[in-house]
Amino acid sequence: MKERTLSIIKPDCVSNRNAGKVIDILEEKGFSIVAMKKIKLTKKQAEGFYIVHKERPFYESLCTFMSEGPIIAMVLEKENAVADYRELMGATNPKEASKGTLRAMFATDIERNAVHGSDSLESADFEIGYFFNALEILQ
Ligand code: CMP
Repeated sequence: MKERTLSIIKPDCVSNRNAGKVIDILEEKGFSIVAMKKIKLTKKQAEGFYIVHKERPFYESLCTFMSEGPIIAMVLEKENAVADYRELMGATNPKEASKGTLRAMFATDIERNAVHGSDSLESADFEIGYFFNALEILQ
């Protein structure tokens, strides 16, 4: 079944000028880019996006990081997009990420880990709606 997932190229990866390489790999791996925007989140906007993590010890630092510079948010579409994109990203901690994954290639550490992807179809619905309105993802 064709699915949609939200991908974010995080501030570390944008400022390192690796965004183009990530997008190139996404297309090579068969993901279609339904919508894309480059924006700088406020701290509050980052907090809202990561609300499910609000009790975690890393929440404050994560939201500061995610609002330090521009990000690129994308809606990706393909068969099995949620799981396939998570596999392509690799483990959250780049030290544990398999060779060839985006995090193995572009992440610095467990927080500055280059990319984000929705972890389920339910999260994808919330996360896509956080960044894009209905018209922007009409296709
Ligand atoms: P992401 O996939 O965007 O989901 C939550 C983010 O929190 C994660 O990537 C990392 O950027 C960050 N994160 C997760 N676990 C930790 C941790 N133990 N320490 C610091 N940051 C973390």
